[in-house]
Amino acid sequence: MYTMIKLKYNYKDLEPYYNSDMFNYHYNVLYKGYTDNLNKIINEFDVDRKNDNFNNIQSLSKRFSFNSNAYILHSLFFENLTPMPNKTLLSTELVNHIKKDFVSYDAFIDELNAALLNIEGPGWVVFGYDKFLDKLLIIQIEKHQELILIDFIPLLVIDMWEHSYYLQYNTDKKEYIRNLFYILDFEVVNNRYNNIYLT
Ligand SMILES: [Fe+2]
Repeated sequence: MYTMIKLKYNYKDLEPYYNSDMFNYHYNVLYKGYTDNLNKIINEFDVDRKNDNFNNIQSLSKRFSFNSNAYILHSLFFENLTPMPNKTLLSTELVNHIKKDFVSYDAFIDELNAALLNIEGPGWVVFGYDKFLDKLLIIQIEKHQELILIDFIPLLVIDMWEHSYYLQYNTDKKEYIRNLFYILDFEVVNNRYNNIYLT
């Protein structure tokens, strides 16, 4: 049974950068829905296994891919937010790694902004490390599950679905991104980065 992650902050404290009504709907309605769906689908798999009936395997696999990734991405997104603006910085080790893989830190920031602004339809932008390729990358994910890499470890996850910003920012993605940067928790990003080398 999968459960929603417990928040380490009171979401009202994310204001004015992230409106609390918008957060409430995002967390308690949408994220809850994806979590419930995931548990329901896992149960359907178990029922099919018990009945030795796999006629629905194709639609079940698609729903599993959509909802499991929605659950994981939202968990990681809410985890990498903090109500304490500019509390932390990226570690020197991670910045040096970024400089090596992205030419320069400025190029990394520009690429991140371009990926965020130019997402096609509902989706996500994730900065992470691909273990097999041994490379830091910024990827765009369409919906919750398309364009995912098989051996990619997320370090920073940003929700670019309209439901993540429309209520407060309307169609102004630029302003959403600018304000979101104030509440990103780089300590979480550093910890995720350090954990890569422990596994
Ligand atoms: Fe979302």
